[in-house]
Amino acid sequence: MTYQPDPERYQQMEYRRCGRSGLKLPAVSLGLWHNFGGVDQFENYRAILRLAFDRGITHFDLANNYGPPPGSAEENFGHLLKKDFAPYRHELIISTKAGYHMWPGPYGDWGSKKYLMSSLDQSLKRMGLEYVDIFYHHRPDADTPLEETMAALDLIVRQGKALYVGISNYKPLEAAKAVSILKELGTPCLIHQPRYSLFERWVEDGLLDLLEKEGVGCIPFSPLAQGMLTSKYLEGIPADSRAAKETGYLRRDQVTEEKVRKVKQLNSLAQERGQTLAQMALSWVLKDPRITSVLIGASRTEQLQDSLQCLENLHFEPEELELIEMVLR
Ligand SMILES: NC(=O)c1ccc[n+]([C@@H]2O[C@H](COP(=O)([O-])OP(=O)(O)OC[C@H]3O[C@@H](n4cnc5c(N)ncnc54)[C@H](OP(=O)(O)O)[C@@H]3O)[C@@H](O)[C@H]2O)c1
Repeated sequence: MTYQPDPERYQQMEYRRCGRSGLKLPAVSLGLWHNFGGVDQFENYRAILRLAFDRGITHFDLANNYGPPPGSAEENFGHLLKKDFAPYRHELIISTKAGYHMWPGPYGDWGSKKYLMSSLDQSLKRMGLEYVDIFYHHRPDADTPLEETMAALDLIVRQGKALYVGISNYKPLEAAKAVSILKELGTPCLIHQPRYSLFERWVEDGLLDLLEKEGVGCIPFSPLAQGMLTSKYLEGIPADSRAAKETGYLRRDQVTEEKVRKVKQLNSLAQERGQTLAQMALSWVLKDPRITSVLIGASRTEQLQDSLQCLENLHFEPEELELIEMVLR
C-alpha cells in the first residue's frame, strides 16, 4: 500500500535552529548506523523510518560505511526513499559522511580531497540522490592539512552535491580551526556531531562553548550510550541486544558491572520523574539549548515510540541534576 505520512506530523515535534544558520532540525533525529544494513530485516527498518517521519523526524543520518556490509545502509535507505519518501524529498534532511575506512588503497580513508569527493559521489549513487543536505568529515585526520579537507567540503557545496557541511569527532582546538577555515572559504560550518551522553561528557569541556560562540549547531550521537542508558541491560545482556550481536559496535565487555550499577540508580531517578531511563537520558541531553538535536538509533518501532516521549519533559530541577551527578561521580 502506498505510504501516506501522518498529516499531523509537524505538530508532534519541536524544531530547533541549527546554530545561527537558517536550518531547523527536529529535536530528535534518527541515525542509520545499526539496524538498516544488509544483515537487517527490510520490513522492520521500513516501519521504523515510516514511524519516524510520521512523528515529525525530518532528519536521517547516514555515512558511507554504515551497514554491514559498508554502503548497505545507504543502499537500503535509497531504496526506501524511492518506494516511500520520493514525494517528500524536500521535507527531508539527509546527511552522510566520509572519514573512516571505506575501500582499499590510499584513497579510501581519512581526509584527503580525493577520498571525500570520491566517497560522496558513491554515496549519492547508492542513495539515488542528486544532493545530500549535510555532508560531514567523519573524524579528524592528523596527516592531511586541515585546509585540504575543508577545501573539499567547500567544493562539495559549490558543486551542489551538499547544501551544508559539518564535522564530527573534532576536539575543541581542531574544531575551532576547521570552523575558521570554512568561514574564510565562505562555506560556514553548519554543525558538529560529537559523542555525548550521561556517560560521555567531554563536549562540556570547551566544545559546546565554542560551538555556541561560532553559531555552529550540535547533534550528539549515541545519547543512549548505544543502549546502555536504557533499561535493557539491567538484568544481563539480552540475546537480541547490540552488545550480544556479532555485528554490533557495543562490546559485551563495555557493559561492565560498574556501568550497570549506575544504570540501575539512574533508572530509579527516571522512574521518579515519570520517565523511562531512555527518555530521561535524552531529555538530559536536550535540556541544554546549545544542543540542536539528539541523534538516536532504534532497532524496533517500540523503542522509537518510547524515546520520542522524552520531549514531554525536558525540564530538570536542580536537585534532580545533583542526584544524577552523584550517581555518575
Ligand atoms: N559521527 C560518528 O562518529 C557517529 C558514531 C556513532 C553513531 N553516529 C550516529 O548516531 C546515531 C545513533 O547512534 P547509536 O545507535 O549508538 O545511538 P543510541 O541512541 O545511543 O543507541 C541506539 C540503540 O539503543 C537501543 N535503544 C534505543 N532506544 C531504546 C529504548 N527506548 N529502549 C531500549 N533500548 C533502546 C537499541 O539497541 P538494541 O539494538 O540493543 O535494541 C538502539 O539500536 C547512529 O545511527 C549514527 O547516525 C555517529
